[in-house]
Amino acid sequence: MASAKILAFAASLRGDSYNKKLVQIAAAKAQQAGAQVDLIDLRDLPMPIYDGDLEREQGLPPNAKKFKQLLMAADGFLIATPEYNKMMPALLKNCIDWASRPEPNEPGLVAFTGKVAAVMGASPGALAAIRGAMQARLQLSLIGTLVLPDELGIARAHEAFNEDGSLKDAKQEQTVATLAAKLVATISKLKSGGA
Ligand SMILES: Cc1cc2nc3c(=O)[nH]c(=O)nc-3n(C[C@H](O)[C@H](O)[C@H](O)COP(=O)(O)O)c2cc1C
Repeated sequence: MASAKILAFAASLRGDSYNKKLVQIAAAKAQQAGAQVDLIDLRDLPMPIYDGDLEREQGLPPNAKKFKQLLMAADGFLIATPEYNKMMPALLKNCIDWASRPEPNEPGLVAFTGKVAAVMGASPGALAAIRGAMQARLQLSLIGTLVLPDELGIARAHEAFNEDGSLKDAKQEQTVATLAAKLVATISKLKSGGA
């Protein structure tokens, strides 16, 4: 059976993003668990804010189309998100909104339906972006993605990572590995008809 294909990304554009570091670790763990992982940086796919007039006149912007195709090609998603003002970042909502738009002869929500996702968060604060991640989980589940219920947050993220991007706390690193492996196992079971 083909291995699980996972698209991994952080919902942050910042070069030194804690969420980029976190998703990079999770992507490596998913790979170790046997998945094929495509780790992308949303900085490479800048998109305008969703605009119905733009869509009507020009269709999906090229990067929105690319992002949607990456989602469509994947069996599941690994996402690390910050929270802004206790909510999911506009960046993530906007990417999801564009990718949710059907193109001619396409069923609705084709990029999200039947996919599996694991959502994590990192923040310098004490609450580890849990509210932003919770919203992202709700958003994805409302549009047809099976979201793992696991909560994984890295609090005090400014102190949590080593220079090389690894986590200082081996237990936290293991928690990330466990969630990544669970995502891979869930996708594999679904692909083999075993779940
Ligand atoms: C507009 C704004 C709002 C923020 N609100 C929150 C918040 O509600 N909770 C929180 O933990 N951190 C908040 N932060 C701090 C972010 O967690 C911090 O900037 C973090 O580094 C962003 O994630 P990144 O490192 O992946 O870019 C906020 C930051 C900004 C710019």
